[in-house]
Amino acid sequence: MAAVVYLALILSFSAVSAVTNITPDEPPLLSLKAPNTGWSSPVTQVCNWTGVLCNRHERVAALNLSNMGLLGTITSDIGNLSFLVSLDLSNNSFSGGIPKEMAHLRRIKDINLNFNDFSGRLPVVGFS
Ligand SMILES: *[C@@H]1O[C@H](CO)[C@@H](O)[C@H](O)[C@H]1NC(C)=O
Ligand SMILES: *[C@@H]1O[C@H](CO)[C@@H](O)[C@H](O)[C@H]1NC(C)=O
Ligand SMILES: *[C@@H]1O[C@H](CO)[C@@H](O)[C@H](O)[C@H]1NC(C)=O
Ligand SMILES: *[C@@H]1O[C@H](CO)[C@@H](O)[C@H](O)[C@H]1NC(C)=O
Repeated sequence: MAAVVYLALILSFSAVSAVTNITPDEPPLLSLKAPNTGWSSPVTQVCNWTGVLCNRHERVAALNLSNMGLLGTITSDIGNLSFLVSLDLSNNSFSGGIPKEMAHLRRIKDINLNFNDFSGRLPVVGFS
């Protein structure tokens, strides 16, 4: 019985990594430590996650999590969302620093981080 459960676990983990390989945007999205987004990888793909809008190449182009009552922090991995054009995290309870890796978002045009609990300054973005 235990062995069956164990095998089922192994199978479900390999299913997870198979799905995970589909888009390089998933790890940076999950790096947003916002546990209450309801995002989970095996169930739906990132382009179908709440607040995520993809371009036609299925890369994340817009992220809008405004007004969702989210607690969280942003890590440097946000800089890996290479195709991000618009980021709206406004009116939540994100806290901590704003990582300098935001400057790697070369396509970014709109950033709205208003009404959160961030500390520190917004790095210069879009020019690296
Ligand atoms: C982001 O990119 C860096 C450098 O390419 C890499 O080391 C890191 O693992 C990436 N992080 C995620 C969450 O994809
Ligand atoms: C996207 O999400 C909807 C419900 O939120 C679901 O019905 C649909 O199957 C999902 N599509 C994919 C490709 O995951
Ligand atoms: C994000 O969504 C809110 C609605 O929840 C909307 O008012 C706002 O304009 C959107 N932000 C962007 C950048 O589209
Ligand atoms: C901020 O978000 C809360 C929900 O978390 C919502 O009730 C409130 O109306 C929002 N405020 C603005 C100015 O959008």
